[in-house]
Amino acid sequence: MRKPLIAGNWKLHNTVEESCQLAQALVTDLNDVTETEIVIAPVFTSLSDVGKICAGTTVQLAAQNCHCMDDGAYTGEVSVPLLANVGCSHIIVGHSERRQYFGETDHFINVKARAIIKHGLTAIICVGETLEQRESGELFEVIATQVRGALEEISPEQMSQVVLAYEPVWAIGTGKTASSEEAEEVHAYIRGLLHGSYGAEIAAQCRILYGGSVKPGNISELMAEDDIDGALVGGASLKADDFAAIVRYKKTLKMAAT
Ligand code: 13P
Repeated sequence: MRKPLIAGNWKLHNTVEESCQLAQALVTDLNDVTETEIVIAPVFTSLSDVGKICAGTTVQLAAQNCHCMDDGAYTGEVSVPLLANVGCSHIIVGHSERRQYFGETDHFINVKARAIIKHGLTAIICVGETLEQRESGELFEVIATQVRGALEEISPEQMSQVVLAYEPVWAIGTGKTASSEEAEEVHAYIRGLLHGSYGAEIAAQCRILYGGSVKPGNISELMAEDDIDGALVGGASLKADDFAAIVRYKKTLKMAAT
C-alpha cells in the first residue's frame, strides 16, 4: 500500500513572517493526520524558521531546489547537507520552472537527485510535457526521457527515497487541470517505466504525485485513480484552509465509466 503524500510548493512567495504564520496554521490544523504524509516547501529564506515550527509535527519540510555539491566555491547555491541541517527531509528537483527558466537538464536533475539520496533525504523528482509536446504526439517519449534520465544510476534500494511528480506544464498555474483520466494515463505509463527498470515490487511501491492546478474541488477525483498517490500543489498550498482541505480529501471510489 502506498501512503498518500500531499506536498505544497510555495514557489517564490511569502516573507519569513508569512511563511511562519502559514506553517503554524498547518501544523495546528493537521496535527491529527496520520494516513497521509504532508510536506511543505517554503522559499530558502524561510526554511530554518519553518523547520522549527514543523519539528515533531505531522508536517515535513522540503526545499524547492538544491545544488549537487556538498560545499565549495559555488556562489549562490545551497547544498543538501545544509538543507538537512535546517530540517529538510525532502527536496524537489526538476520542476518545469527550473527546466524552463534555468536550463536544467535531465542529467543535472539526476546528479542532484543522487546527492539528495546519498544524504538520506527523499527526492521529489518532477517530470511533465508542454502543451506543444502533447499536441505533437511526443507525450510519452518526453516523459520516458525525463524519467529515465532522472533515475540514471539510482539503484533499486535507493528507490524508497524517490517520489515522482507528474506535472503537465500546461496545467501549472493555469487553472487547467488535466482530467483525472488524462493524468492517470501518464501515471500508469510512468509506473510501467518503473516496472521495466526496477521490477514489479518497486514499481508498486513508488509514489507518483500529480501536480497542476490541484484544488480542494478536484483532489478527490484525482486520488480515486489507481496510480495517483498524492499531489504537488502550487497556488492552493498558499492558503491554509485550501491546503488543509486538499490533505483531508474525501476518499471516493472511481465512478464506473458509462
Ligand atoms: P499550481 O498548483 O499553482 O498549478 O502549481 C503546480 C506546481 O507547479 C506545483 O509544483
